[in-house]
Amino acid sequence: MNYDAKSAKYYDKVLAPALNRIRKHTVKIIKKHNFKSVVDFCCGTGNQLKFLLKAGYTDVVGVDLSENMIAQTKVGKFNPKCLLEDATNTTFPENYYDVAMVSLAMHEKSKKIAIGMIEEAKRVVKPNGFFITTDYCFDKKSFFIGRWGATWVEKKVGGEHYENFKKYVAFGGLNNLMKDYIFIEEKRFLFGAVTLRLYKF
Ligand SMILES: C[S@@+](CC[C@H](N)C(=O)[O-])C[C@H]1O[C@@H](n2cnc3c(N)ncnc32)[C@H](O)[C@@H]1O
Repeated sequence: MNYDAKSAKYYDKVLAPALNRIRKHTVKIIKKHNFKSVVDFCCGTGNQLKFLLKAGYTDVVGVDLSENMIAQTKVGKFNPKCLLEDATNTTFPENYYDVAMVSLAMHEKSKKIAIGMIEEAKRVVKPNGFFITTDYCFDKKSFFIGRWGATWVEKKVGGEHYENFKKYVAFGGLNNLMKDYIFIEEKRFLFGAVTLRLYKF
């Protein structure tokens, strides 16, 4: 999806009620596992990184392809460093970060691009480093109301975004994309339809 200036400006305001619990739980996992350096792929407005800055983290950075979303990282009290870069091909050094994140982004991409992001995340984290990902997961742990609500939202967005979402659900989403990596833990949100997961590469 292309985020124009207006949708980028209202992204956090509209989604905060749904996403704040996810943001806080992400910080909790990062604390629990003692991660110090964090890179957020497809960071959007930098909202998750703002939560980390607020919690006292300093070695955090994001990348996003949308100038309008990146402009929002400069709004407010906490202003994370976010670069205008493609998450499948970043300029970050190899083997540096404790953990890489991709939140709410893979379902709207082709499988090829989603895999490209995961592989790039693996490249930039330390050997056997970690990966936090939040996205839809329509498996047995999800409730109908959650799947229905998520599908309604994605249909409203429409276009290529919705087409990719349907393919993502059909091929098994995160369960398929992450099948070769070590699952550590998860927490479900929004009637189980959204999972926040920690993996080890
Ligand atoms: C739904 S938003 C999610 C933003 C943020 N991760 C969050 O949790 O709110 C998806 C973001 O992915 C970005 N994006 C899409 N393709 C990208 C790519 N190849 N590289 C970097 N960012 C990308 C979009 O610009 C958008 O900001």
